Amino acid sequence: MWRTETFVLFFLLCLKNLMKANGSCYLEQSQSHCVCSVKDLEQTEIQTFLTCTIATIYELRGGNLTRFGNFSGVEPHPQIIEILENLPVQKLIFTDVIVPEILLPGALAFVSHTPLVSALEFVNCTFLRAAHWYTRNILWLKISSLRFHRVIADPLDDRFDISSWRSWLENLENLTISESQVTSIPCKIGVVFTALRLLDISGNRFQDESLSSSFCEGAFPQLQILKLNRNNLTSYETVCRTLSHLRTLAHLDLSQNSFPPDLLSSPCTWPQSLRIFNLSNTGLQYMDRSLPPNIEILDLSANSILTLDLSTPGLKELYLSKNRLQTVPSVEGLPSLEILTLDQNQIPRLHSKGLLLLKNLRSLKAGLNLYNCSCRRYIQEIQDLATQRTDWLQDWPHNYICRSPPQYQNYLLDEVPLSSLQCNKALVSHGSVVSLLICLHLVLRWLPV
Ligand SMILES: *[C@@H]1O[C@H](CO)[C@@H](O)[C@H](O)[C@H]1NC(C)=O
Ligand SMILES: *[C@@H]1O[C@H](CO)[C@@H](O)[C@H](O)[C@H]1NC(C)=O
Ligand SMILES: *[C@@H]1O[C@H](CO)[C@@H](O)[C@H](O)[C@H]1NC(C)=O
Ligand SMILES: *[C@@H]1O[C@H](CO)[C@@H](O)[C@H](O)[C@H]1NC(C)=O
Ligand SMILES: *[C@@H]1O[C@H](CO)[C@@H](O)[C@H](O)[C@H]1NC(C)=O
Ligand SMILES: *[C@@H]1O[C@H](CO)[C@@H](O)[C@H](O)[C@H]1NC(C)=O
Ligand SMILES: *[C@@H]1O[C@H](CO)[C@@H](O)[C@H](O)[C@H]1NC(C)=O
Ligand SMILES: *[C@@H]1O[C@H](CO)[C@@H](O)[C@H](O)[C@H]1NC(C)=O
Repeated sequence: MWRTETFVLFFLLCLKNLMKANGSCYLEQSQSHCVCSVKDLEQTEIQTFLTCTIATIYELRGGNLTRFGNFSGVEPHPQIIEILENLPVQKLIFTDVIVPEILLPGALAFVSHTPLVSALEFVNCTFLRAAHWYTRNILWLKISSLRFHRVIADPLDDRFDISSWRSWLENLENLTISESQVTSIPCKIGVVFTALRLLDISGNRFQDESLSSSFCEGAFPQLQILKLNRNNLTSYETVCRTLSHLRTLAHLDLSQNSFPPDLLSSPCTWPQSLRIFNLSNTGLQYMDRSLPPNIEILDLSANSILTLDLSTPGLKELYLSKNRLQTVPSVEGLPSLEILTLDQNQIPRLHSKGLLLLKNLRSLKAGLNLYNCSCRRYIQEIQDLATQRTDWLQDWPHNYICRSPPQYQNYLLDEVPLSSLQCNKALVSHGSVVSLLICLHLVLRWLPV
């Protein structure tokens, strides 16, 4: 029994003999992060774990815990409980570990004796299915943050009895289940997370329908941050309708989904609380869809937007990098703008007048566009911006490159000899021949016959 308990202690806390030259635990440079390997845990002596006790983060890296499957249900020895209660550890991380699900209830029972552990992470772990999760007692854990990244597990179903977990899941604030091929969260589980503020389910396989069932009425009632980026969502309006009842949602990331134009759908109203909205890389060509009414930060970068006409008086940050804009969008309806990015579009000139009216603007990124350097005026208006608002153009001058006319292609705007420029066709391709002919014509015309 003592040996199994020792194992569990190490399984959870990765306390291992640092004195050994080959010690499978070591402190990272920060001195607060202890990394252990599971390989020889069975041989570890209980007395040797004290070396890592100053660490606040314990990470267990690599290993197959299948052979410890029998451990579930063991009560910790009082002596171990005493040690656990005095450990400063705040976070446990399991990386590259194969974990039989049957181990989890017992492992969590141990964690419940560590008063300071508030975060639990599983990274690149494989959970082996158990027929039923046996939990004897209701667990009282102080965990507020739970993260699963790149884990492989069977979908949660009836083998998981949520009632014995409810008491601590109800207090969870942050939950991440990313890049784990998840398709949905059962409604009856979602409704348990009554205190959850952040849900990160990015990089999974949520589709429009499975999202609707996961965000059923009553699920995640306190949610503020929702990351749904990199999933298989396709209908903007369906997503909006599904999430419209989340009254406290402030930050929504839908980037890297694909929203083709949907002409049939009726508009929908986003939660009033939504302030930060990420629609980067979602295949948008037009932004004619309903936006959250009180939006402050909007990321529309990496789409195919040709023109844009927004009127959202509260908008403070607008990201439009990597689109197909051919003119600077009108900023009249955006009086609060503080940050604007327009780089990597197809804009030939920056009309500075409108931009200079933005009282609160403090950053403008507009490099790598198709700048037309045929006219002195075009160059001067950008230079004026750069000199009048030195703090604005972060990417000036190195990203401001002429694309035309041919003789100044790839010149920095800053390096074009302005004195040689006028704004007529004289500098465009065969212009000089044309002007020569005009001169000749004039000369011939006025020559005394
Ligand atoms: C460290 O481990 C390797 C193999 O695991 C072994 O060959 C070596 O002798 C060990 N060194 C010490 C100092 O224990
Ligand atoms: C893990 O260990 C069990 C038994 O100890 C074994 O059957 C299984 O193949 C191992 N899995 C991997 C991926 O090594
Ligand atoms: C689990 O325990 C049972 C009996 O207590 C034993 O027969 C079995 O081999 C054990 N399995 C493992 C993986 O240790
Ligand atoms: C994930 O874990 C498996 C074993 O569980 C390992 O073979 C693989 O290299 C790990 N992948 C990454 C990206 O760490
Ligand atoms: C939850 O996540 C937010 C945002 O990343 C972070 O600021 C906060 O500290 C986290 N809370 C906990 C309890 O980990
Ligand atoms: C979901 O998206 C991934 C890549 O983002 C893709 O490989 C997969 O085929 C999609 N699945 C469905 C069902 O559309
Ligand atoms: C939006 O998401 C992309 C990744 O998809 C990220 O690079 C970008 O920083 C996000 N934008 C904001 C404003 O957070
Ligand atoms: C550049 O501007 C000049 C003057 O307005 C115009 O004649 C020319 O066609 C423009 N070049 C390109 C490539 O748009």
